[in-house]
Amino acid sequence: MKRTALMTDVGRDWDAFHATDISSKLPYFSRENRLYDCLFSQQFDRDLLDRLFGVADRLREVTQSKTGADAVRRLLSHKRAMLYFVQPSTRTFLSFLNACHILGLKTSEIRDTSTSSEVKGESPEDTVRTFSSYVDLIIMRHPLPGFVEKTAWFMNRVKRPVPIINGGSGKDQHPTQALLDVYTLHRSLKGGPEGKTIVMVGDLKRGRTVRSLSYLMKNYKGVKLVFVSPPQLRMEADILDFLKRHGIPCREADDLAPVLPEADAVYMTRIQDEHDKAGESKSLDLARFDFRAEHLKVIKPTAIIMHPLPRRHEIDVAVDEDDRAVYWRQERNGMWVRAALIAHIFGVDGLIPAGDKH
Ligand code: NCD
Repeated sequence: MKRTALMTDVGRDWDAFHATDISSKLPYFSRENRLYDCLFSQQFDRDLLDRLFGVADRLREVTQSKTGADAVRRLLSHKRAMLYFVQPSTRTFLSFLNACHILGLKTSEIRDTSTSSEVKGESPEDTVRTFSSYVDLIIMRHPLPGFVEKTAWFMNRVKRPVPIINGGSGKDQHPTQALLDVYTLHRSLKGGPEGKTIVMVGDLKRGRTVRSLSYLMKNYKGVKLVFVSPPQLRMEADILDFLKRHGIPCREADDLAPVLPEADAVYMTRIQDEHDKAGESKSLDLARFDFRAEHLKVIKPTAIIMHPLPRRHEIDVAVDEDDRAVYWRQERNGMWVRAALIAHIFGVDGLIPAGDKH
């Protein structure tokens, strides 16, 4: 479906739009062959991923010198961004904030609905629309799945449209986390994700990072996925169906240790107990889903251990010392790749000067 058709026809009615197949609505969130809004992992094809990773590499290199950093800071010094994060966040918030500053964007933020007029009864829709009066980009994290998409949908229809980036929506998606995860796979594994076995561990049912990362795997040949979780927290059927449709082999397991020797990347996650109805995950026996220091002996010398963070008990702190533990690098990669994404959205990715090595 063409963007114009969606804008004039089902585009007028949010419920009809929301119910539309995702591949049909993607054009609505793009302009002039670029992403305009970044909402779902399904928006990234291999070409775009490679381009963004190249831009991220260039940014981290050129900003090493003051001259380079100053030049990059001029690229978007005429733009302003709003960070609307009404769910807890450390890394996503800080990496987006600093990504904006790298490119020169000025920023403002709301991190709690109790400090915005929502407390006076304003609808979230009106609140977000207000931001668009002051800024040129909205980056948001919201507990309601679908709300980020709804925001982008109606912000595409107002007189002063503003791009929206999804910094995490409920249990649903976290596309820029998936972007930094794949960027990390590229930087830390020879040949990137292609042909690799990726073991995802933990709360696969309610973790949005593993969902978004699974979608991105369709861009790589020969990937095998192993999903390791307690039976109550298995990956949802929509993702399993997606992987089947795209011919990506995956299998499920309920014990981490036996699958570790075949892993090229072990992607650990925490239990998302904020989604518990009555503390039910407290009764789960999680010992079989922890990565302990002794497991370092059984993983490949080339394997990497990832985590979107925050971590609790699921990775022993002693593991941090091992070179294969890449989660601290992974969080820093997020800042560069998010800066690359913002540069892409504003069409300045081609203007980044080359670093000294060129
Ligand atoms: C993740 C999230 O918010 O979904 N964190 C992050 O963005 N780095 C993972 C989590 O909270 O467990």
